Amino acid sequence: MKETEQLHGAASRFSEMKILIIDDELSNVALLEDLLSGSGYTNVKSILDPRLTLETCKEFAPDVVLLDLRMPHMDGFAVLEALRANDRGAFLPVIVLTADIDAQSKYRALRAGATDFLLKPLDHLEVLLRMGLFMERRRIEYELHNEKEKAEAASAAKDRFLAMASHELRTPLTPVLIWASGTAQEPDLSPNLQDGLKMICRNVELEARMIDDMLDLTRITRGKLGLYRRPADAHELIGHAIDIVRSDIEARHLNLRLALDASEHKLRVDSARLQQVFWNLLRNACKFTPEQGTIAIRSFNDGPEKICIEISDNGVGLEPQSLEKIFNAFEQVDSRKEGLGLGLAISKAITEMHGGTIRARSEGLGKGTTFAVTLAVENESIERDHLTEGTDAEKSEPNRNES
Ligand SMILES: Nc1ncnc2c1ncn2[C@@H]1O[C@H](COP(=O)(O)OP(=O)(O)O)[C@@H](O)[C@H]1O
Ligand SMILES: [Mg+2]
Repeated sequence: MKETEQLHGAASRFSEMKILIIDDELSNVALLEDLLSGSGYTNVKSILDPRLTLETCKEFAPDVVLLDLRMPHMDGFAVLEALRANDRGAFLPVIVLTADIDAQSKYRALRAGATDFLLKPLDHLEVLLRMGLFMERRRIEYELHNEKEKAEAASAAKDRFLAMASHELRTPLTPVLIWASGTAQEPDLSPNLQDGLKMICRNVELEARMIDDMLDLTRITRGKLGLYRRPADAHELIGHAIDIVRSDIEARHLNLRLALDASEHKLRVDSARLQQVFWNLLRNACKFTPEQGTIAIRSFNDGPEKICIEISDNGVGLEPQSLEKIFNAFEQVDSRKEGLGLGLAISKAITEMHGGTIRARSEGLGKGTTFAVTLAVENESIERDHLTEGTDAEKSEPNRNES
């Protein structure tokens, strides 16, 4: 097959692609139009006045632009800059047509966003070959762009579904829990029935907690998790979190060591949310540490303005490649244990929303894990500033129903 025939083939594949020619000289435009339409490109538009570029691009939405450099009113460099300032979505190739171009102008055009150059007088075959290349690139970009849009739509649909499903799944649990825990308190129940009711409560609570995690995750991904910052005490929050897991610690005969040495431990945080972070870390420490293991909690000031809280265990440990991944939603190293793999993702988001950091370290499998949460402390002077700047929303009692 002759080269020109091949090019015709290429052009026919791309024949609907739109080409915009910007050149003030009618003879150049006519030549290019003939060449392109003669090669099968059916969607060619030309403008002689470069000031019409943006307007034309908006209407015509070209796939490739052929641009002259030397034009009255607005030169090619200015057109390039205007086009690039206006670039949205898929990349638009702009090919500069020029008679003789010195190195400086070439660099200037490239910096302004030129994709390539074609020298005048135009070599017809070269023009067509290059058009084919740009069209191919443009087509690939289109496909990527479409795939990305599809993936984003699917992900948004998944988020919406998760939010709705969690909400619907959570609602029926409340009356079950209220009735079962109330009835379990009744004095003349047979021990059998009482144990049964307690078992129901434990499992419904577990399920409710997992669904609450899913709800939190959907709030985080949709940017709808609100924080209600108030003065709080880091050591008190740790104490509350310990209270929740105390029965777990006792049941598994774990040793708990506390060294809360930070002298500055005042915070300005959403207490319930931050307590959730400490509770998640403690729950994990209990879950991933064998019976009779040790959990250590310590706090210290990392400079006068920071407090670091470390929760360590001597349990199963983590390999280096897992240390970052475990903060991703649904990521679990060993999914046989109870849980959805959301606790750390939620904890990371909450900590970062407070301007803090959360990190994990481990010497390796079997060598225990340490989670370190660092937060800004709120000393007196900072607190006073906040009080004067506090907004009305901050002062009023929060509505926790953020979904
Ligand atoms: N203290 C820990 N020791 C070892 N691995 C841990 C520890 N905490 C978390 N991990 C790992 O990180 C994963 C994610 O934790 P998390 O987000 O809390 O989800 P879940 O507890 O539901 O599995 C866990 O499944 C586990 O593999
Ligand atoms: Mg967990």
